[in-house]
Amino acid sequence: MYLITMLGLRALHIIFLFHIHTFGTFGLLKTQENNFVLVTEDNADVVPIDVSVECTEPLCCAMFCQKNLQCFSFSFNEVTSECTLGSWVYPSSGGNPRSSNEVIYTSAAPCYPSSNTSSNQTFLSNGTESVCVWISSDWTNYTQSAAFCRGIGMSLYTPKSLPKLYIIKTVAETLQEDVWVGLNDVSSENNFVWEDDQSSLNLTLRTLLFAPGQPNTNSTQEDCVTYSLTQAPLNDIVCSYNRTYVCERKLTKTKF
Ligand SMILES: *[C@@H]1O[C@H](CO)[C@@H](O)[C@H](O)[C@H]1NC(C)=O
Ligand SMILES: *[C@@H]1O[C@H](CO)[C@@H](O)[C@H](O)[C@H]1NC(C)=O
Ligand SMILES: *[C@@H]1O[C@H](CO)[C@@H](O)[C@H](O)[C@H]1NC(C)=O
Ligand SMILES: *[C@@H]1O[C@H](CO)[C@@H](O)[C@H](O)[C@H]1NC(C)=O
Ligand SMILES: *[C@@H]1O[C@H](CO)[C@@H](O)[C@H](O)[C@H]1NC(C)=O
Ligand SMILES: *[C@@H]1O[C@H](CO)[C@@H](O)[C@H](O)[C@H]1NC(C)=O
Ligand SMILES: *[C@@H]1O[C@H](CO)[C@@H](O)[C@H](O)[C@H]1NC(C)=O
Repeated sequence: MYLITMLGLRALHIIFLFHIHTFGTFGLLKTQENNFVLVTEDNADVVPIDVSVECTEPLCCAMFCQKNLQCFSFSFNEVTSECTLGSWVYPSSGGNPRSSNEVIYTSAAPCYPSSNTSSNQTFLSNGTESVCVWISSDWTNYTQSAAFCRGIGMSLYTPKSLPKLYIIKTVAETLQEDVWVGLNDVSSENNFVWEDDQSSLNLTLRTLLFAPGQPNTNSTQEDCVTYSLTQAPLNDIVCSYNRTYVCERKLTKTKF
């Protein structure tokens, strides 16, 4: 009985919030944890993550999106009252342009799909991890790869968790190539550091990530790390070798 009363109050509270937030502030929706900005480009669309919900207001879609780890955007159809939760918003050259009944909101900077060859960015996710990656179409050494990624506001891919390891595994297997990841012990032998924040690789991840018998640092010759198809998952190799590389930008929803 007490619970029902509580739920009833909660529902009223939510309805009340809708009125406050939608009045005069349709360009920006604020949920408890995230901000969602109205996307005004006509040819934008969301990349759906196969979650649709019924809502009477965009703010309701935003609240569902806030709770879903893979959701960073949504579209709301004012006629059908359907929210389509999406991973990402992109200018849809080849996709479905937005219908006139649809509004689209996003909570982070865009990650363009791989069909946009001028950006080569792709949204990838596995489990609790979502990343925007850029996949090279050339081969270069570790230093150059890391510098390139920094230059486009990203960093060499850092597989710091099992889901992120699965993501890079899929990329490497799809390319049928070994790829540089952002991990090296150039500065201090056998102390591997991550490219994005220079933090040290801990023992738990070291055991999980390196292939059996790796890293075989072999004096100071093998200081840079690849996702290796033959020494999977990770293997340390000579930094001057040329390999394909993958840059990443961590995805986070914007907050107050
Ligand atoms: C994106 O990939 C295409 C095809 O692989 C390549 O020709 C193009 O140069 C790449 N664009 C950028 C900005 O790297
Ligand atoms: C492709 O990506 C670039 C960013 O690198 C963006 O400026 C451009 O609008 C995108 N084009 C299309 C058609 O999606
Ligand atoms: C993550 O990737 C692995 C390996 O490809 C796959 O088996 C698993 O189903 C994926 N998990 C999720 C939640 O996507
Ligand atoms: C090891 O490092 C990863 C990534 O930095 C971190 O998420 C994890 O909590 C660390 N584990 C331990 C046991 O320190
Ligand atoms: C390291 O490399 C040298 C020369 O390339 C080789 O003689 C040696 O056996 C290697 N050591 C290990 C531990 O792999
Ligand atoms: C990587 O390539 C660049 C440009 O060719 C070169 O200047 C640099 O010394 C190379 N670095 C390594 C570690 O091989
Ligand atoms: C890597 O590629 C560059 C440019 O194509 C080339 O000059 C260099 O010799 C290559 N390095 C190795 C170790 O193959």
